[in-house]
Amino acid sequence: MLRRRDLLLSALAAASLPALPVTARAQTPLTPLPPAGTPRLPPDFLWGASTSAYQIEGAVAEGGRKPSIWDVFSHTPGRIADGTNGDVACDHYNRYADDVALMGDLGLQAYRFSIAWPRVMPDGTGAVNAAGLDFYDRLVDALLARGIQPMACLYHWDLPQALQERGGWHNRDIADWFADYARASVRRLGDRVKPWAMLNEPSVHAIFGHGFGNHAPGLTGWDSYVKAQHHLNLAQGTGIAAVRAERSDLKLGTVLSLQPIFPSSQDAADITAAARFDACWNTINLDPLFHGRYPALFADDFAPLIKSGDMETIHAPVDFLGVNYYGPSYIKHDPAAFLAQASWGAVPADTPHTLLGWPISAQGMVDVLTRLRDDYGNPPVFITENGACYEDPAPVDGVVQDPERTEYFRAHLVAAGEAIAQGCALKGYYAWSLLDNFEWAEGERRRFGMVRVDFATQQRTPKQSGLYLSQLMKAHGSGKAP
Ligand code: FCB
Repeated sequence: MLRRRDLLLSALAAASLPALPVTARAQTPLTPLPPAGTPRLPPDFLWGASTSAYQIEGAVAEGGRKPSIWDVFSHTPGRIADGTNGDVACDHYNRYADDVALMGDLGLQAYRFSIAWPRVMPDGTGAVNAAGLDFYDRLVDALLARGIQPMACLYHWDLPQALQERGGWHNRDIADWFADYARASVRRLGDRVKPWAMLNEPSVHAIFGHGFGNHAPGLTGWDSYVKAQHHLNLAQGTGIAAVRAERSDLKLGTVLSLQPIFPSSQDAADITAAARFDACWNTINLDPLFHGRYPALFADDFAPLIKSGDMETIHAPVDFLGVNYYGPSYIKHDPAAFLAQASWGAVPADTPHTLLGWPISAQGMVDVLTRLRDDYGNPPVFITENGACYEDPAPVDGVVQDPERTEYFRAHLVAAGEAIAQGCALKGYYAWSLLDNFEWAEGERRRFGMVRVDFATQQRTPKQSGLYLSQLMKAHGSGKAP
């Protein structure tokens, strides 16, 4: 382990800001070129990185943890592209102290992690598993000892399997189950963790896990999606209420995946499909949270599920919004698609994209933030995820050269500065992700880390992009967590 840290420290010392060419990009009709230049962020801007429990912890049967829906899903043949699972992942459960040291060396001011519900309440409800919370207790203490401000996210898709067997997100009772679990976590950690995010990307969990079925729990269809989505929204509200009642000194929010949605052509059918997709991906969470109603396009679909008081519960104010931003989507009319007859269509020629095929547009991040400014009251926002997947070469002299990911970070941090200049209440940025990790249905074959993980040896090796972020973080003063 010493060797790893020595390597990292010498790489940090030797690194100078990489000279980054501004990649020439063909302008698309809808997304202007990303801004050029060096990121300029205010001195109180918060710099950090994000991870999630199932993607990094491993140790799936240690400390009293029981299976989550992702354990079951990833062990089902054919579900994960490379046949891997999260049994070990980055073994962060056992290596957290070294990983926190790594964060400190990189200069992180903040770290967003998620708490595994199946560690805290292995059966989903009822008895609290003290040993499960002990892990987060140790992690939080280690972070604070290194001066890193923790943000805890209560739900990053790893529902206890025991609750799935009781209907999971289709069972309205989950709003109370989630509140109980949130309360237990805050009772133990709320004296030291101040910002708490309720859910990670509820629309993505509803769409992929409960509509397409390519994520856990693998359910399909429109009705399934709608039911899961309403109960996710409701749990966000009951969670906020439970945690606020527990402690008044916390900053509470939730995390949404937001994207600009463009039609893949100017055909009327594609334009309509894009509007419907925008409602399902973006405003299905934003409108209830900030306006207390579902988007008009789908109000009739949700109406039968809404009980008296639900919309008030969901509409309860948050102290901050976490935004996960990766890029825009281009949407076409597709009569066979479960999701409102809309699916991904052609991307304008020459649009740059990552290894996963996700279109890149730093300008899209400005667009998302100005939408929050104009349509949702300009809430305090943290970018809680932003990053890119590329094929990484083997390390040379102890560093992985990943110029495309480095450029992605640069362009999006310039965009962050631009959004602030345009009056958006953007307060900080957590890169996705600290470590290469178990990337859901893609498994271990798709990497997003600032730091490479060799899954066979668990060796951590810095990437150029991580060193680039490290230098920016160290150069930019000290930010404040929400
Ligand atoms: C987001 C997820 C995160 C990670 C990134 C690449 O949608 O929140 O866990 O998989 O995508």
